[in-house]
Amino acid sequence: MAGESHPVLEARGIVKIFGQHRALDGVDFAVRPGEVHALLGENGAGKSTLIKILTGAYQPDGGEIVLDGAPVRFTDPLNAQGSGIGTVYQEVNLLPNRSVAENLFLGRQPTRFGLVQRHAIVTQATALMATYGLDIDVRAELGSYSVAVQQIVAIARAVELSGKVLVLDEPTASLDRNEVEKLFEVIAKLKARGLGIIFITHFLDQVFAVADRVTILRNGQLIGTRDLSTLTATEVVRMMLGKDLAYGHSSLPVAEAAKGPVKVTFTGLGRADRVAPFTLSLHEGEVVGVAGLLGSGRTEMARLMFGVDTADEGDITVAGKPVKIRNPAQAVMAGFGFCPEDRKLDGIFGELSVRENIIIALQAKLGWFRALQRDEQDEIAGRYADDLDIRAANHDMPVKLLSGGNQQKVILARWLANDPTFLILDEPTRGIDVGAHAEIVRTINRLREEGLALLVISSELDEVVAYSNRVVVMRDRQMVAELHGADITPAVIVAAIADNTLTPEPVT
Ligand SMILES: Nc1ncnc2c1ncn2[C@@H]1O[C@H](COP(=O)(O)OP(=O)(O)OP(=O)(O)O)[C@@H](O)[C@H]1O
Ligand SMILES: [Mg+2]
Repeated sequence: MAGESHPVLEARGIVKIFGQHRALDGVDFAVRPGEVHALLGENGAGKSTLIKILTGAYQPDGGEIVLDGAPVRFTDPLNAQGSGIGTVYQEVNLLPNRSVAENLFLGRQPTRFGLVQRHAIVTQATALMATYGLDIDVRAELGSYSVAVQQIVAIARAVELSGKVLVLDEPTASLDRNEVEKLFEVIAKLKARGLGIIFITHFLDQVFAVADRVTILRNGQLIGTRDLSTLTATEVVRMMLGKDLAYGHSSLPVAEAAKGPVKVTFTGLGRADRVAPFTLSLHEGEVVGVAGLLGSGRTEMARLMFGVDTADEGDITVAGKPVKIRNPAQAVMAGFGFCPEDRKLDGIFGELSVRENIIIALQAKLGWFRALQRDEQDEIAGRYADDLDIRAANHDMPVKLLSGGNQQKVILARWLANDPTFLILDEPTRGIDVGAHAEIVRTINRLREEGLALLVISSELDEVVAYSNRVVVMRDRQMVAELHGADITPAVIVAAIADNTLTPEPVT
């Protein structure tokens, strides 16, 4: 259908240079009306940069953009929007303190006699959200909703603004399975309407589920554009990495009970509006995986443990001694580390350098009067950057200039450098390319062998199975199951997550 139609939007021979670094080196790319075109590549391959050039956020250093067969120059994203190109960037750029409705209609509010028609906005916004299957109060602040809802609002806004092309840069990174399905339904509708859709993701199964064609970048170079019907997942990965993936999950010995002494115990820890009281002990050299749907209370549990939210009941002991944790600083002093899911909100200091971002938690723990010397800082940053394969031109560059996945690795490096005895990782592989997933799974297993206690929240069940000694399952803000030994398989975990709540939704 989309088969032989002319491209709606094209990039020809695009070059983009940052300092010494060629982020894009003569890249061709074209999206046709009515197709979903996936753009793939490792962290730092140049995907977001290409999108930013196609949508006017960056100017190219060479090459041209062609819209409907005619060369164009977009001065900024608003300008591109005016030509029918709507974008949801990797980092959501909405206003959390404004209402959902205002965010949807920002800059194009229906007015009468110069006054914004608030009532009209609320009605329209409610109807619009309903088409995405969201029944929410659009007058509430956007920031009061989950990342998933915020993401859908961003998508709805971009779709409404764009007539020809919709660009989605990792739109599903914070969505759970049901929400991803909802989004795919929306994509299918938009595709039928004749929109050209550019889709960036690190989830290969999603690429095969929705995309018609794929373009693969590696180190700023175009590797190729193919019909997905002619490719296997293995071939796609080989094109991305330039080699086969060494994963080796299945060979890892797992699910043995941890033999070390108990390191940290949470007894009856809970908070009325967040998580029902739970009791959990973690041993030295143990990984406890946490499974559950988005919104099941996984992240809330981690936030209570680390004092981001204060518990209103329960006790914590570390190596048998009671500790009080009412804020993250106390958690750090107790030897805890927490690598959060949403790097933009909770983790990264964009203006600070890669080096500073890595050493900041360690420095805070040592106390500022014991300032780390510059060569110590370089040594620590260098070691963890190597371990995790962080790709940055140098460690003095502001971390906001790194690709999204590399920023995620910087936060992980920060908490490893802090030398914790108990480390919480919330979705550690989110936004990270398939090649580096294996690296992170190996890192978790290595930390376990070094005697750390780890709590790892993840939706990637294959990975949970590959590193967990035990798995706890959250549902409806309660800890509902604990799995051991042979029960630690994706199938058993899925069953525990779903339980009897998996009644089919009514078809409307
Ligand atoms: N404004 C900038 N200044 C300097 N370097 C930049 C800038 N923006 C991007 N880069 C560099 O360009 C390269 C490509 O980055 P880009 O964000 O396009 O990667 P990506 O393919 O989207 O990766 P990810 O999957 O991690 O999001 C990276 O090495 C990045 O550090
Ligand atoms: Mg990116």
